[in-house]
Amino acid sequence: MLEELSVTWRRGGPPTLLTISHRPPKPTVPAVLANGVDGDGPLELLAHWLEQCRRHRGIGNTQRDLGVDAVAVSGEIDGQHLGYAMDRTGREYLVRGQRHGTERHRSSGTDVAARTHLPALLTERLAELVWRLAGPPPPAAGSRIRDMWPTAGLIDLDEDELHERYALPSPTEGHVRLVAVSSIDGLAAVDGSSAALTSSGDQRVYRLIKRDADLLLLGANTVRAEQYGQTALSAPEIARRRANGLPSYPAVAVVTRSLDLDLSGPLFQPSIGGHGQPRPILIVPAAAAAGASTAVAEAAELLVAGDYNVDLNQAIQLLRQRGHRRIVCEGGPALAGQLAQADLLDEICVTITPQLLAVAGPRITAGPAGRPAGGQWQLHRSLLDEQGNLFLRYTRPGPSGRADGPPTV
Ligand SMILES: NC(=O)c1ccc[n+]([C@@H]2O[C@H](COP(=O)([O-])OP(=O)(O)OC[C@H]3O[C@@H](n4cnc5c(N)ncnc54)[C@H](OP(=O)(O)O)[C@@H]3O)[C@@H](O)[C@H]2O)c1
Repeated sequence: MLEELSVTWRRGGPPTLLTISHRPPKPTVPAVLANGVDGDGPLELLAHWLEQCRRHRGIGNTQRDLGVDAVAVSGEIDGQHLGYAMDRTGREYLVRGQRHGTERHRSSGTDVAARTHLPALLTERLAELVWRLAGPPPPAAGSRIRDMWPTAGLIDLDEDELHERYALPSPTEGHVRLVAVSSIDGLAAVDGSSAALTSSGDQRVYRLIKRDADLLLLGANTVRAEQYGQTALSAPEIARRRANGLPSYPAVAVVTRSLDLDLSGPLFQPSIGGHGQPRPILIVPAAAAAGASTAVAEAAELLVAGDYNVDLNQAIQLLRQRGHRRIVCEGGPALAGQLAQADLLDEICVTITPQLLAVAGPRITAGPAGRPAGGQWQLHRSLLDEQGNLFLRYTRPGPSGRADGPPTV
């Protein structure tokens, strides 16, 4: 196992590996973990460790201080001896073979468990243990992020700290968050896409925001323009969602009147990264639902709100009734503008990218001429990455402020 990890480890040197087995524990393994395991399979071992980690937070801190990068478990499953490891990025490693024989089958990559038909529970438990013991992966190149306001930060934020900066109010409340990226001069798209505006830091924040979402809400033009499909989450990211009582992936809902969507596109694929993808929801007015083809009705779930146009107020209420309380709106401008006009937004997370484009194009909201959307906004937090992207989180002020109030300076 160690040999396999050393060969494939992407960061060069061999990782610090915590191996969980029935062999006598190494001195670094807290004594409390060495006793009382019921059953002798890897699943039972992992369950026992998880139980202990949930009870004693210090266990995770100790392992992180020791610099654990990956967690491995070994034991018998279906008469075969296996060594199964996962690193902080969710990359899996598997060595399978007869305990006393010389034959070994090795594989590495992601979705090893799915490819080799290991029990899904094994992956889930190992992934949860990885984030509890090894911690989050190091940020991708160019995406180191620090606090700007209310206090300027002197250190790079790790994934857990960054996640805390975007913490939501009580999960039982309804909350609509708009996420958007804009150039210095306010452009939300170049040549019909936002791809040129995003960055590794922006993607890092976006993934964290998505991790807490029950549902991602989009306008149909954005799905068409960006050939939208969900970004695959790593096994540890999925484990965190599941530990918070959420399904592996957030649901996706698209607002459309025309129903003109590519049913063979990535959004309608039945699985993503080896995990079943929830059937997309199409939010439509009654007039559109009446004319929906069988193919559309099979590929997606139709949610009717409004007669000839989608009534967004009603749509949000219906989504909440179905348990989708934490909604992240990914745009585009037409949809975001209507949500703002209807006073349905609780929060805006906007990235200002250091680009001046000076061409025609949309802003992050579009709306009719006339009365501006009302409501006050206050800066809740701002962060900065090493490439100069500014991450601004705005919430509603006042006692009924829908987020967790302003931070104290
Ligand atoms: N910078 C960013 O953060 C960001 C984020 C997202 C998107 N974008 C960019 O924005 C552009 C797309 O934005 P967009 O403003 O053109 O479109 P959009 O908001 O994504 O979608 C508009 C479409 O949504 C449907 N729709 C919206 N409101 C509706 C209602 N009340 N009732 C029924 N249907 C409704 C209609 O779909 P049908 O036409 O199917 O009826 C409408 O054409 C793309 O270039 C994309 O790359 C940028």
